[in-house]
Amino acid sequence: MKGIILAGGAGTRLYPLTIVTSKQLLPVYDKPMIFYPLSTLMLGSIREILIISTPEDTPRIEELLGDGSKFGVDLSYAIQEKPEGLAQAFTIGRDFIGDDACAMVLGDNIFYGNGLNHKLRDARTDAENGRATIFGYYVEDPKRFGIMEFERGDSRTDSLKVISVEEKPKQPKSNYAIVGLYFYPKGVSDMAAEVKPSARGELEITTLNDMYLQQGRLNAQLLGRGYTWMDAGTFDSLQKATDFVSMIEQYQGMTISSPEEIAYHMGWINDEMLAKSVMRYGKSPYGERLKAVLEGKVVI
Ligand code: TTP
Repeated sequence: MKGIILAGGAGTRLYPLTIVTSKQLLPVYDKPMIFYPLSTLMLGSIREILIISTPEDTPRIEELLGDGSKFGVDLSYAIQEKPEGLAQAFTIGRDFIGDDACAMVLGDNIFYGNGLNHKLRDARTDAENGRATIFGYYVEDPKRFGIMEFERGDSRTDSLKVISVEEKPKQPKSNYAIVGLYFYPKGVSDMAAEVKPSARGELEITTLNDMYLQQGRLNAQLLGRGYTWMDAGTFDSLQKATDFVSMIEQYQGMTISSPEEIAYHMGWINDEMLAKSVMRYGKSPYGERLKAVLEGKVVI
């Protein structure tokens, strides 16, 4: 199973902040935004990860994250010349993906909630068995998102029957947004190559999802109460994400979405490697919290 972080884009809604900096390198409280989607893939036990960004931003992101060894993962990098749509990630990533299933997370999407790892592992198993998975999250303003219409089968499980997927519908058929985290079976690059540009000129992920739906190969899971999903692409949502992370981290005294901590608990890095990161981050709050992990004070 491979994973892609799509971390390019123009970031125009955050101008002037993003004129010379990648949105994904902006801080969300105590760490760069890209740590969050990286942590999400790692929670799904995905260790071979391609980061796609702009020609200008890719070197800076690589400077920050390197080859991934400090996080116990294998990172590689590719460039998207222009932000021509989310589905393009799978044609850019064709060689990287090879004959594997592949997940993708957007570089500005933040996920938090107990049990997320189980949902990710279910999606992974389904992708390895030929089925794609999208995730739905209740929103009050569905016209701004890709929206899924679905029927709920057995209410005791999360399995849903998707009826339609629509990009920014004028008359939304539900209030469930399709979040920026997708799992696809092998062959996704060939499918993505069939996607035609939409009226706004983008290779839409919703078109790709609809192709899987038409083939009867699209699953959906809901991220219900108890999960937080944020897309930190506007000033308001970036501020809210920062407030959210600071509240949880200060209240619980634990870190959210630390790739080093996840790697350590997964057994992908040892004490010595974690100690190096603790040294590197020094007296920053992030470094102090990682130190508590190293000292065995945090066990989950
Ligand atoms: P968006 O928020 O839709 O776009 P953007 O980041 O360019 O911002 P703005 O609308 O303010 O100009 O993108 C969502 C995420 O996907 C974000 O992390 C950037 C990334 N992205 C790409 O990397 N390539 C693309 O072609 C697109 C459309 C988005």
